[in-house]
Amino acid sequence: MENSNPSNSSSNKVPTHVAIIMDGNGRWAKQRGWPRLLGHRAGSQNIRGIIGACIERGVRFLTLYAFSTENWSRPKLEVVGLMHLIGDYIDRETPNLHKMGVKINHIGDIDGLSKSLQKKIRNAINVTRDNINITVSVALNYGGRQDIVQAVRNIVANDVTSEQVNEKLVADYLGTRNIPEPDLVIRTSGENRLSNFLVWETAYSELWFTPVLWPDFNQKTLDEALLAYSGRNRRFGLVSNTPNQNPASNTSFISQPET
Ligand code: FPP
Repeated sequence: MENSNPSNSSSNKVPTHVAIIMDGNGRWAKQRGWPRLLGHRAGSQNIRGIIGACIERGVRFLTLYAFSTENWSRPKLEVVGLMHLIGDYIDRETPNLHKMGVKINHIGDIDGLSKSLQKKIRNAINVTRDNINITVSVALNYGGRQDIVQAVRNIVANDVTSEQVNEKLVADYLGTRNIPEPDLVIRTSGENRLSNFLVWETAYSELWFTPVLWPDFNQKTLDEALLAYSGRNRRFGLVSNTPNQNPASNTSFISQPET
């Protein structure tokens, strides 16, 4: 296992956490007269290169929206095909990602996935648990609102009193409790919305949208996004020229309240 510590001359301008909504696989396939699943396959083949590029640029956390709780309503053939594709991907790519020093994480309802996929995910998490170059969280059977509902259920089940409930406590019950909030959210394919992705965690995230379809997203597109981010003035509800860094990121993963 290689674990290098990437250095970056303008590290305060490189987002610590990038989250990507990988959209447009279906349209990419349709443009070629191919079945949608071939678009998903092309999209999956893109992932390792983008992870490598993120490591080189000093991004420490990457979260990928692979399958939402709403995606179950797609045609059965597409859902089954996607699940197989993701399972095969984990089997094939875990050794490569491990060599790259990637720590694999999952967010979402793992119990709603097939037993065999659960096993593959748990194995990938276990094999890569000590890696430090980047944490890649795969949002699979994930819904932002569902995650908040689950957090509330667990808070109630733990007999937490209303006085104890604050932003930090809620965040500590979310599936993202071990990762910082995203600094930058990228969505491909020209759609300008979050679609139930990290709805709590993106309160102060910078958003960047591109018409590029996910299978065509490459290092150049990533650099465009990072360049746009580096020019943003993040104020976190304040009025002055706050440095481009989440003030909460070194102490806790919670944003400061609006003033
Ligand atoms: C959205 O494109 C994409 C998805 C719902 C699936 C994303 C999955 C992958 C990139 C491949 C597998 C992932 C992993 C982690 C191995 P769309 O189908 O909505 O495209 P469209 O909007 O053009 O129809």
